Amino acid sequence: MSRIIELIDKLEREHILPKSELVEIISGHTPETDEYLFEKARAVREKIYGKDVYMRGLVEFTNYCKNDCLYCGIRRSAKGAERYRLTEEQILECCETGHELGFRTFVLQGGEDVFYTDDKIVSIVTKIKEKFPDCAVTLSIGEKSRESYEKFRNAGADRYLLRHETANSEHYSKLHPKELSLENRMRCLADLKELGFQTGCGFMVGSPYQTAENLAEDLLYIYDLKPHMVGIGPFVPHHDTPFAEEKQGSLETTLLLLGMIRLILPNVLLPATTALGTIHPKGREMGILAGANVVMPNLSPKDVRKKYLLYDNKICTGDEAAECIACLGRRMESVGYKLVSARGDFIVDS
Ligand code: 5AD
Ligand code: FES
Repeated sequence: MSRIIELIDKLEREHILPKSELVEIISGHTPETDEYLFEKARAVREKIYGKDVYMRGLVEFTNYCKNDCLYCGIRRSAKGAERYRLTEEQILECCETGHELGFRTFVLQGGEDVFYTDDKIVSIVTKIKEKFPDCAVTLSIGEKSRESYEKFRNAGADRYLLRHETANSEHYSKLHPKELSLENRMRCLADLKELGFQTGCGFMVGSPYQTAENLAEDLLYIYDLKPHMVGIGPFVPHHDTPFAEEKQGSLETTLLLLGMIRLILPNVLLPATTALGTIHPKGREMGILAGANVVMPNLSPKDVRKKYLLYDNKICTGDEAAECIACLGRRMESVGYKLVSARGDFIVDS
Protein backbone atom coordinates (compact mmCIF):
# COMPACT_ATOMS: atom_id res chain seq x y z
CA MET A 1 0.00 0.00 0.00
CA SER A 2 1.30 3.44 -0.80
CA ARG A 3 2.74 5.46 2.04
CA ILE A 4 0.26 8.30 1.50
CA ILE A 5 -2.71 5.93 1.65
CA GLU A 6 -1.33 4.51 4.88
CA LEU A 7 -1.06 8.03 6.32
CA ILE A 8 -4.60 8.92 5.25
CA ASP A 9 -5.87 5.80 7.03
CA LYS A 10 -3.94 6.80 10.11
CA LEU A 11 -5.31 10.35 9.96
CA GLU A 12 -8.84 8.98 9.78
CA ARG A 13 -8.21 6.73 12.78
CA GLU A 14 -6.28 9.11 14.99
CA HIS A 15 -7.56 12.51 13.71
CA ILE A 16 -4.05 13.96 13.85
CA LEU A 17 -0.53 13.02 12.79
CA PRO A 18 2.92 14.26 13.70
CA LYS A 19 3.85 17.35 11.71
CA SER A 20 6.31 15.43 9.52
CA GLU A 21 3.59 13.01 8.42
CA LEU A 22 1.14 15.83 7.65
CA VAL A 23 3.88 17.35 5.51
CA GLU A 24 4.35 14.00 3.74
CA ILE A 25 0.70 13.98 2.72
CA ILE A 26 0.73 17.63 1.66
CA SER A 27 3.89 17.15 -0.42
CA GLY A 28 3.26 13.66 -1.70
CA HIS A 29 -0.46 13.48 -2.53
CA THR A 30 -1.51 12.46 -6.05
CA PRO A 31 -4.88 12.52 -7.86
CA GLU A 32 -5.33 8.87 -6.80
CA THR A 33 -4.61 9.46 -3.11
CA ASP A 34 -6.86 12.54 -3.27
CA GLU A 35 -9.77 10.42 -4.47
CA TYR A 36 -9.12 7.99 -1.63
CA LEU A 37 -9.08 10.84 0.90
CA PHE A 38 -12.20 12.53 -0.47
CA GLU A 39 -14.17 9.31 -0.34
CA LYS A 40 -13.31 8.95 3.34
CA ALA A 41 -14.05 12.62 4.00
CA ARG A 42 -17.48 12.31 2.36
CA ALA A 43 -18.30 9.21 4.38
CA VAL A 44 -17.35 10.95 7.64
CA ARG A 45 -19.35 14.05 6.74
CA GLU A 46 -22.40 12.08 5.57
CA LYS A 47 -22.50 10.05 8.76
CA ILE A 48 -22.92 13.28 10.73
CA TYR A 49 -24.60 15.77 8.38
CA GLY A 50 -26.03 13.53 5.66
CA LYS A 51 -26.21 15.04 2.20
CA ASP A 52 -27.34 18.43 3.52
CA VAL A 53 -25.45 21.56 2.57
CA TYR A 54 -26.14 24.52 4.83
CA MET A 55 -26.36 28.03 3.50
CA ARG A 56 -25.22 31.20 5.25
CA GLY A 57 -26.36 34.60 4.04
CA LEU A 58 -23.36 36.88 3.92
CA VAL A 59 -24.01 40.58 4.53
CA GLU A 60 -20.88 42.56 3.72
CA PHE A 61 -21.87 45.66 5.60
CA THR A 62 -18.71 47.79 5.42
CA ASN A 63 -15.54 47.78 3.36
CA TYR A 64 -13.79 50.40 5.48
CA CYS A 65 -10.88 48.83 7.29
CA LYS A 66 -8.27 50.23 9.65
CA ASN A 67 -5.95 47.30 8.96
CA ASP A 68 -3.46 46.92 6.16
CA CYS A 69 -3.10 43.18 5.59
CA LEU A 70 -0.89 42.77 2.56
CA TYR A 71 -3.18 40.35 0.71
CA CYS A 72 -6.50 42.10 1.10
CA GLY A 73 -8.26 44.27 -1.47
CA ILE A 74 -10.01 46.41 1.17
CA ARG A 75 -6.85 47.13 3.18
CA ARG A 76 -6.55 50.71 4.34
CA SER A 77 -3.94 51.53 1.67
CA ALA A 78 -6.00 50.20 -1.23
CA LYS A 79 -6.76 53.61 -2.66
CA GLY A 80 -8.81 52.20 -5.52
CA ALA A 81 -11.45 50.73 -3.20
CA GLU A 82 -14.67 52.73 -3.24
CA ARG A 83 -15.72 52.68 0.40
CA TYR A 84 -19.26 52.12 1.66
CA ARG A 85 -21.18 51.41 4.82
CA LEU A 86 -24.68 49.97 5.20
CA THR A 87 -27.08 51.51 7.68
CA GLU A 88 -28.78 49.43 10.33
CA GLU A 89 -31.97 49.63 8.24
CA GLN A 90 -30.18 48.37 5.14
CA ILE A 91 -28.66 45.48 7.09
CA LEU A 92 -32.10 44.53 8.43
CA GLU A 93 -33.53 44.71 4.91
CA CYS A 94 -30.86 42.27 3.70
CA CYS A 95 -31.89 39.88 6.48
CA GLU A 96 -35.56 40.34 5.57
CA THR A 97 -34.87 39.40 1.95
CA GLY A 98 -32.67 36.56 3.10
CA HIS A 99 -35.27 35.23 5.49
CA GLU A 100 -37.87 35.14 2.71
CA LEU A 101 -35.39 33.21 0.58
CA GLY A 102 -34.99 30.63 3.33
CA PHE A 103 -31.79 31.75 5.06
CA ARG A 104 -31.65 30.93 8.78
CA THR A 105 -28.10 32.18 9.35
CA PHE A 106 -26.90 35.69 8.72
CA VAL A 107 -23.20 36.44 8.64
CA LEU A 108 -22.36 40.08 9.23
CA GLN A 109 -18.93 40.58 7.76
CA GLY A 110 -16.94 43.75 7.43
CA GLY A 111 -13.55 45.36 7.59
CA GLU A 112 -12.38 46.57 10.98
CA ASP A 113 -14.37 49.78 10.82
CA VAL A 114 -14.31 52.02 13.92
CA PHE A 115 -17.57 53.65 12.79
CA TYR A 116 -19.40 50.56 14.06
CA THR A 117 -18.87 50.93 17.78
CA ASP A 118 -19.71 48.06 20.11
CA ASP A 119 -23.03 49.76 20.85
CA LYS A 120 -23.91 49.89 17.16
CA ILE A 121 -23.06 46.20 16.68
CA VAL A 122 -25.02 45.28 19.79
CA SER A 123 -28.02 47.22 18.47
CA ILE A 124 -27.83 45.50 15.06
CA VAL A 125 -27.49 42.02 16.58
CA THR A 126 -30.33 42.67 19.05
CA LYS A 127 -32.67 43.81 16.29
CA ILE A 128 -31.88 40.88 14.01
CA LYS A 129 -32.46 38.41 16.84
CA GLU A 130 -35.74 40.15 17.77
CA LYS A 131 -37.03 40.10 14.23
CA PHE A 132 -35.76 36.64 13.33
CA PRO A 133 -35.65 34.59 16.53
CA ASP A 134 -35.31 31.40 14.49
CA CYS A 135 -32.04 32.55 12.94
CA ALA A 136 -28.41 32.36 13.93
CA VAL A 137 -26.30 35.51 13.80
CA THR A 138 -22.64 35.19 12.94
CA LEU A 139 -20.21 38.07 13.28
CA SER A 140 -17.04 38.40 11.23
CA ILE A 141 -15.66 41.79 12.18
CA GLY A 142 -12.13 41.08 13.27
CA GLU A 143 -10.03 41.43 16.37
CA LYS A 144 -11.72 42.99 19.42
CA SER A 145 -11.23 42.94 23.17
CA ARG A 146 -12.71 40.14 25.23
CA GLU A 147 -15.10 42.70 26.72
CA SER A 148 -16.44 43.61 23.27
CA TYR A 149 -16.89 39.96 22.35
CA GLU A 150 -18.76 39.46 25.58
CA LYS A 151 -21.15 42.31 24.74
CA PHE A 152 -21.85 40.81 21.31
CA ARG A 153 -22.46 37.42 22.85
CA ASN A 154 -24.83 38.87 25.45
CA ALA A 155 -26.71 40.65 22.66
CA GLY A 156 -27.40 37.23 21.17
CA ALA A 157 -24.68 36.68 18.57
CA ASP A 158 -24.32 32.92 18.13
CA ARG A 159 -21.18 32.50 16.07
CA TYR A 160 -17.97 34.31 15.18
CA LEU A 161 -15.62 33.87 12.25
CA LEU A 162 -12.03 35.02 12.54
CA ARG A 163 -9.52 33.30 10.32
CA HIS A 164 -6.16 32.86 11.99
CA GLU A 165 -4.59 33.20 8.48
CA THR A 166 -1.47 31.18 9.39
CA ALA A 167 -0.41 29.48 12.61
CA ASN A 168 3.26 30.33 12.09
CA SER A 169 4.20 33.69 13.56
CA GLU A 170 7.04 34.33 11.11
CA HIS A 171 4.72 33.65 8.21
CA TYR A 172 2.06 35.77 9.92
CA SER A 173 4.44 38.73 9.98
CA LYS A 174 5.05 38.41 6.23
CA LEU A 175 1.33 38.73 5.51
CA HIS A 176 0.48 41.46 8.00
CA PRO A 177 1.70 44.89 9.09
CA LYS A 178 3.67 44.94 12.31
CA GLU A 179 0.76 46.17 14.46
CA LEU A 180 -0.91 42.78 14.02
CA SER A 181 0.29 39.66 15.78
CA LEU A 182 -0.58 36.00 15.66
CA GLU A 183 -0.56 36.05 19.43
CA ASN A 184 -3.46 38.49 19.61
CA ARG A 185 -5.32 36.64 16.85
CA MET A 186 -5.06 33.43 18.84
CA ARG A 187 -6.09 35.24 22.02
CA CYS A 188 -9.23 36.42 20.23
CA LEU A 189 -10.07 32.89 19.07
CA ALA A 190 -9.56 31.46 22.56
CA ASP A 191 -11.77 34.20 24.05
CA LEU A 192 -14.50 33.65 21.48
CA LYS A 193 -14.60 29.96 22.19
CA GLU A 194 -14.65 30.48 25.94
CA LEU A 195 -17.50 32.96 25.62
CA GLY A 196 -19.59 30.25 24.00
CA PHE A 197 -19.55 31.36 20.38
CA GLN A 198 -19.57 28.68 17.72
CA THR A 199 -16.14 29.76 16.54
CA GLY A 200 -14.50 29.61 13.15
CA CYS A 201 -10.83 29.98 12.29
CA GLY A 202 -9.22 29.41 8.91
CA PHE A 203 -6.55 30.37 6.43
CA MET A 204 -5.74 30.94 2.79
CA VAL A 205 -4.14 28.16 0.80
CA GLY A 206 -1.15 29.25 -1.25
CA SER A 207 -0.66 32.62 0.40
CA PRO A 208 2.73 34.15 -0.37
CA TYR A 209 5.68 32.50 1.45
CA GLN A 210 3.50 29.62 2.69
CA THR A 211 5.30 26.26 2.95
CA ALA A 212 4.01 22.71 3.40
CA GLU A 213 5.28 22.95 6.99
CA ASN A 214 3.14 26.04 7.52
CA LEU A 215 0.06 24.18 6.31
CA ALA A 216 0.87 21.30 8.67
CA GLU A 217 1.11 23.87 11.47
CA ASP A 218 -2.33 25.19 10.51
CA LEU A 219 -3.73 21.67 10.80
CA LEU A 220 -2.09 21.12 14.18
CA TYR A 221 -3.49 24.41 15.43
CA ILE A 222 -6.96 23.49 14.19
CA TYR A 223 -6.73 20.14 15.95
CA ASP A 224 -5.75 21.86 19.21
CA LEU A 225 -8.30 24.69 19.04
CA LYS A 226 -11.15 22.44 17.91
CA PRO A 227 -13.17 25.22 16.28
CA HIS A 228 -16.75 24.62 15.14
CA MET A 229 -16.05 26.05 11.70
CA VAL A 230 -13.00 26.31 9.47
CA GLY A 231 -12.95 28.68 6.51
CA ILE A 232 -10.32 27.96 3.91
CA GLY A 233 -9.97 29.11 0.34
CA PRO A 234 -7.20 29.71 -2.15
CA PHE A 235 -5.25 32.95 -2.00
CA VAL A 236 -6.25 35.05 -5.01
CA PRO A 237 -4.16 38.13 -5.78
CA HIS A 238 -5.79 41.55 -5.75
CA HIS A 239 -4.36 44.13 -8.19
CA ASP A 240 -4.28 46.99 -5.66
CA THR A 241 -2.14 45.21 -3.01
CA PRO A 242 1.57 44.46 -2.53
CA PHE A 243 0.77 40.84 -3.51
CA ALA A 244 -0.68 41.80 -6.89
CA GLU A 245 1.94 39.77 -8.77
CA GLU A 246 1.96 36.73 -6.49
CA LYS A 247 0.75 33.34 -7.62
CA GLN A 248 -2.79 32.23 -6.86
CA GLY A 249 -3.32 29.28 -4.52
CA SER A 250 -3.93 25.87 -6.07
CA LEU A 251 -7.28 24.15 -6.43
CA GLU A 252 -5.76 20.75 -5.69
CA THR A 253 -4.10 21.82 -2.46
CA THR A 254 -7.25 23.57 -1.26
CA LEU A 255 -9.32 20.44 -1.88
CA LEU A 256 -6.70 18.26 -0.21
CA LEU A 257 -6.82 20.43 2.91
CA LEU A 258 -10.63 20.40 3.00
CA GLY A 259 -10.51 16.62 2.98
CA MET A 260 -7.83 16.48 5.67
CA ILE A 261 -9.70 18.94 7.90
CA ARG A 262 -12.83 16.79 7.63
CA LEU A 263 -10.85 13.81 8.97
CA ILE A 264 -9.22 15.90 11.70
CA LEU A 265 -12.53 17.39 12.95
CA PRO A 266 -15.35 15.12 11.71
CA ASN A 267 -18.13 17.44 12.96
CA VAL A 268 -16.70 20.68 11.63
CA LEU A 269 -18.81 23.07 9.56
CA LEU A 270 -16.68 23.54 6.48
CA PRO A 271 -17.59 25.95 3.69
CA ALA A 272 -16.82 25.51 0.02
CA THR A 273 -15.83 29.16 -0.26
CA THR A 274 -16.49 31.81 -2.87
CA ALA A 275 -12.73 32.03 -3.47
CA LEU A 276 -12.77 28.34 -4.41
CA GLY A 277 -15.64 29.05 -6.81
CA THR A 278 -13.61 31.93 -8.22
CA ILE A 279 -10.54 29.91 -9.25
CA HIS A 280 -12.52 27.08 -10.90
CA PRO A 281 -16.03 27.09 -12.40
CA LYS A 282 -16.86 23.93 -10.44
CA GLY A 283 -14.74 24.82 -7.41
CA ARG A 284 -17.57 24.80 -4.88
CA GLU A 285 -18.97 21.50 -6.12
CA MET A 286 -15.49 20.00 -5.88
CA GLY A 287 -15.18 21.43 -2.37
CA ILE A 288 -18.40 19.68 -1.33
CA LEU A 289 -17.11 16.43 -2.83
CA ALA A 290 -13.87 16.84 -0.85
CA GLY A 291 -15.74 17.05 2.48
CA ALA A 292 -17.19 20.56 2.77
CA ASN A 293 -20.83 21.03 3.88
CA VAL A 294 -21.56 24.76 3.85
CA VAL A 295 -21.93 27.48 1.20
CA MET A 296 -22.08 31.21 1.86
CA PRO A 297 -23.99 33.11 -0.81
CA ASN A 298 -24.03 36.85 -0.76
CA LEU A 299 -26.98 38.82 0.61
CA SER A 300 -25.42 42.25 0.29
CA PRO A 301 -27.35 44.79 -1.81
CA LYS A 302 -26.39 44.45 -5.45
CA ASP A 303 -24.98 47.97 -5.74
CA VAL A 304 -22.30 47.40 -3.09
CA ARG A 305 -21.19 43.90 -4.11
CA LYS A 306 -18.59 45.05 -6.59
CA LYS A 307 -17.05 47.15 -3.86
CA TYR A 308 -16.39 44.33 -1.40
CA LEU A 309 -13.55 42.82 -3.34
CA LEU A 310 -10.98 41.11 -1.16
CA TYR A 311 -9.45 39.58 -4.32
CA ASP A 312 -9.81 39.90 -8.10
CA ASN A 313 -12.47 38.20 -10.28
CA LYS A 314 -14.81 37.42 -7.37
CA ILE A 315 -17.88 35.56 -8.60
CA CYS A 316 -21.56 36.45 -8.07
CA THR A 317 -20.99 40.19 -7.75
CA GLY A 318 -23.65 40.82 -10.41
CA ASP A 319 -26.23 38.30 -9.24
CA GLU A 320 -29.17 38.71 -6.88
CA ALA A 321 -29.27 36.51 -3.79
CA ALA A 322 -32.26 34.67 -5.25
CA GLU A 323 -30.26 33.83 -8.38
CA CYS A 324 -27.34 32.56 -6.30
CA ILE A 325 -29.60 30.30 -4.28
CA ALA A 326 -31.20 28.81 -7.36
CA CYS A 327 -27.78 28.40 -8.94
CA LEU A 328 -26.26 26.84 -5.82
CA GLY A 329 -29.27 24.57 -5.38
CA ARG A 330 -28.69 23.21 -8.89
CA ARG A 331 -24.97 22.96 -8.35
CA MET A 332 -25.35 20.98 -5.12
CA GLU A 333 -27.89 18.67 -6.74
CA SER A 334 -25.57 18.09 -9.68
CA VAL A 335 -23.16 16.36 -7.29
CA GLY A 336 -25.81 14.56 -5.26
CA TYR A 337 -26.18 16.98 -2.34
CA LYS A 338 -29.04 19.14 -1.12
CA LEU A 339 -29.05 22.83 -0.24
CA VAL A 340 -31.19 23.19 2.90
CA SER A 341 -32.68 26.07 4.89
CA ALA A 342 -31.87 24.72 8.37
CA ARG A 343 -29.79 26.86 10.76
CA GLY A 344 -27.13 24.20 10.51
CA ASP A 345 -25.67 24.32 13.99
CA PHE A 346 -22.58 22.38 14.92
CA ILE A 347 -23.55 18.84 15.87
CA VAL A 348 -21.95 17.60 19.08
CA ASP A 349 -21.39 13.86 19.42
CA SER A 350 -23.78 12.31 21.90
N1 5AD B 1 -7.48 35.98 -1.51
C1 5AD B 1 -8.20 35.04 -0.84
N2 5AD B 1 -8.75 35.27 0.35
C2 5AD B 1 -8.59 36.47 0.90
N3 5AD B 1 -8.99 36.97 2.08
C3 5AD B 1 -8.58 38.25 2.16
N4 5AD B 1 -7.89 38.60 1.06
C4 5AD B 1 -7.87 37.50 0.26
C5 5AD B 1 -7.30 37.21 -1.00
N5 5AD B 1 -6.58 38.12 -1.67
C6 5AD B 1 -9.65 36.17 3.10
C7 5AD B 1 -8.88 36.25 4.43
C8 5AD B 1 -9.90 36.85 5.36
C9 5AD B 1 -11.21 36.51 4.71
C10 5AD B 1 -12.36 37.38 5.10
O1 5AD B 1 -10.95 36.62 3.33
O2 5AD B 1 -8.52 34.94 4.86
O3 5AD B 1 -9.83 36.36 6.67
FE1 FES C 1 -24.08 33.09 -7.36
FE2 FES C 1 -24.13 30.88 -9.01
S1 FES C 1 -23.88 31.04 -6.86
S2 FES C 1 -24.63 32.97 -9.48
